[in-house]
Amino acid sequence: MNKTLLTFILAGTLSVSNVVAEQSSKQGGELKVLITYYSRTGNTERVVNDVAKLLNADTEKLVDKKSRKGILGFIFGGRDAVSKNKTVLAPVTKDAGNYDIIILGTPIWAGNMPPALRTYVESTKGKFKNVAYIITSGSSTPEKIVADLDTIAGKKAVEFLWFDHATLMNKEQYNKKIIAFTEQLKKIGK
Ligand SMILES: Cc1cc2nc3c(=O)[nH]c(=O)nc-3n(C[C@H](O)[C@H](O)[C@H](O)COP(=O)(O)O)c2cc1C
Repeated sequence: MNKTLLTFILAGTLSVSNVVAEQSSKQGGELKVLITYYSRTGNTERVVNDVAKLLNADTEKLVDKKSRKGILGFIFGGRDAVSKNKTVLAPVTKDAGNYDIIILGTPIWAGNMPPALRTYVESTKGKFKNVAYIITSGSSTPEKIVADLDTIAGKKAVEFLWFDHATLMNKEQYNKKIIAFTEQLKKIGK
């Protein structure tokens, strides 16, 4: 068999087995979960990645086309969040309508959600079947942002997970909360 043909057949076999693996991981009653999140400094992203592993979830990171870097990014980010301003996002790659649960991951900015998350939720909410939230903050508690998200998503969250900086640093509490959250979500649809 010539070398090019052999390479072609091997590549075909590998890509088919990848597809089978992907499909089978979502079968057997397992919920399809998408975590769409915004993270400026990595705290929310860390939680998102750990939850995604436990739920076998897909993830989508929102990219704000407006720079939020540095002190000016902080100041104007806070102002935009308080003013409920929207922003321009890079195109998303996953269709929220294909998932049983959308988990929205967000930091708290000046008591509100950042423009990137607001923009995504307002433009995509019609596709959400169930919503849950992952929220991180320095110390602010999550009640207000949970209520705001419920309002703009048009649904009450089935669960939410919140970390302040102190709990993010405490490995034992961190793991306990992540496991409790993912176990609750696994019960949905059973
Ligand atoms: C513009 C801005 C405003 C913030 N406002 C608050 C706030 O009101 N309350 C609070 O507890 N933390 C506030 N924080 C801290 C972040 O919520 C916290 O560090 C969060 O974990 C950051 O998540 P990230 O690393 O995923 O971006 C603010 C951070 C930024 C950048």
